[in-house]
Amino acid sequence: MHRRTIGSSVLFVLHVVWSGAALAATAAATDTSSAMPSAMAERMRACTSCHGVQGQGRNNDYFPRIAGKPADYLFNQLSAFRDGGRTYPPMGYLLAFLPDDYLRQISQYFADLQPPFPDADHTNVSAKVLAAGEQLVMHGDPARGIPACIACHGARMTGTQPGIPGLLGLHASYIAGQMGTWRSGSRRALAPDCMHSIAVKLSDRDITAVSSWLSRQPRPADPRPAPASAERLPLACGSQPQ
Ligand code: HEC
Ligand code: HEC
Repeated sequence: MHRRTIGSSVLFVLHVVWSGAALAATAAATDTSSAMPSAMAERMRACTSCHGVQGQGRNNDYFPRIAGKPADYLFNQLSAFRDGGRTYPPMGYLLAFLPDDYLRQISQYFADLQPPFPDADHTNVSAKVLAAGEQLVMHGDPARGIPACIACHGARMTGTQPGIPGLLGLHASYIAGQMGTWRSGSRRALAPDCMHSIAVKLSDRDITAVSSWLSRQPRPADPRPAPASAERLPLACGSQPQ
């Protein structure tokens, strides 16, 4: 996206989200709960200019899918963009003064949507790279202390309630970007940050392999995250309390 487009979306977004916060206050005061869903959809136009009308993500673009991810996961991300655990200035400015309870409403709104997935990635990647990616996602690499991604993200890779997101419907550029910021420490999750521990063990080649394979998987028939499980995770994660 060009700098100028980002600048103008930020202005637009600030306008809509702030009038949204005022709207939320009015709605709370006058109890117009039946009007809430469409009011929320209207306010979220600020966000859906980048994330897709229903938060479904975009074809051929970096912008991630946010719809249908667990509400607690989404809340943790919005507060991270606000408080510095993740950095993306157009969103950071936008969220800077929003209170937790409004971030929770936004999170629940997107968690409840289940729009169709954007197109899978399809540029050529060698079969060898894809096989290496599948191996890491499904089985990890015990010799290097890397657990299988599905041990936490769910056998169907649609995430696990309450704090683990699905890995389908994201582009390779986004997945690789996140693994890179976790490795460098500029993306931080609640401690203990299990994704940091995993990302620092992955080579650039591993990251290319997992992100290429994940972004080419067929869209799931049932996109909902798996329910919270009593099974122990292979590593402790602050965002998935057990
Ligand atoms: C200018 C485009 C833009 C706008 C506007 C925008 N986002 Fe984002 N959003 C992004 C990008 C790009 C990322 C990924 C940033 C990164 O690399 O970490 C992101 C990440 C996210 C994530 C984390 C996704 C995940 O799976 O971890 C959430 C949640 C989110 N945005 C919600 C929102 C909400 C809610 C709004 C409106 C208040 C909003 N965004 C407005 C571009 C935008
Ligand atoms: C021990 C559990 C665990 C394992 C194993 C695990 N993850 Fe995660 N993952 C998490 C948690 C928890 C989060 C959410 C962190 C947060 O709140 O930001 C997450 C988030 C992510 C995200 C962010 C998604 C988004 O929308 O921004 C990506 C990408 C990811 N994991 C990829 C992987 C890959 C690839 C593997 C395997 C190499 C893997 N994970 C293994 C627990 C795990």
